[in-house]
Amino acid sequence: MDEETQLSRKTVLKAALAAGVAAPVALLGGPALARATAAGGVPELTPSCHDDDDPTPPQTEGPYFKPNSPERTNLVTPGTQGTRLTVTGYVFGLACRPVSRALLDFWQADVNGAYDNVGYTLRGHQYTDAQGAFTLSTIVPGLYPGRTRHIHVKVQAPGRPVLTTQLYFPNEPRNNTDTIFDARLLMTVRDNGTAKEAAFDFVLDVPQTPTSTQAPTSTQTSTPSPGGTTWTAGTAYAPGNRVTYASRAYVCLQAHTAQPGWEPPSVPALWRAE
Ligand SMILES: [Fe+2]
Repeated sequence: MDEETQLSRKTVLKAALAAGVAAPVALLGGPALARATAAGGVPELTPSCHDDDDPTPPQTEGPYFKPNSPERTNLVTPGTQGTRLTVTGYVFGLACRPVSRALLDFWQADVNGAYDNVGYTLRGHQYTDAQGAFTLSTIVPGLYPGRTRHIHVKVQAPGRPVLTTQLYFPNEPRNNTDTIFDARLLMTVRDNGTAKEAAFDFVLDVPQTPTSTQAPTSTQTSTPSPGGTTWTAGTAYAPGNRVTYASRAYVCLQAHTAQPGWEPPSVPALWRAE
């Protein structure tokens, strides 16, 4: 089975959104692009919004949230120190359609791991655009005792409950020891010169009516790639390991021990579809 026919309807819808085309079917003849990755710019699926996706998991708010943050997409001010970081992504509902005007309220530590609990440094809220997209300009947050590197966020579709969660960075040693770390909340991160670019897509528990534009439904099964084993919870995987899951082949991007809920389609920072 070729790759295109393995795409779920939501993946194709998402790819169409990212590519700015109206009819997802138009993409079926070419690479389904969420966003370019990696050196060489080879387009790669971002498999974070599938038909079988669960909503983005919630996490504790922690002690440092402050209401009434300023509305802004850029948290960097002239005196801000730290590695520049841009986080982009989409907010989707359960049918993988974009949620426009969704509220995103971000807060994070500064380069030294400190929160501004007096003012609103490194705090800000914004709304998704008509395509459900957002962009946050900030810095890589510093570490503080007891936690791995993370960004806090609240996400809310209009008139719907608030999702409070956190976003994580791949390849952080403390990801292995932070007891609330969840690989499903890993961003994909790449270097861009001295800065970093991260991506994450939220799936909110928002009922939606699927669009009438449907990608072909995959009813076929494919043969696992030679040498691949079936993904199994509890297994320790290393970068380069290959597995199959739901008849699709994946390669491990970073070491981890698999857990229920961290299936390859749900954790694009850990597994890349081949
Ligand atoms: Fe925190």
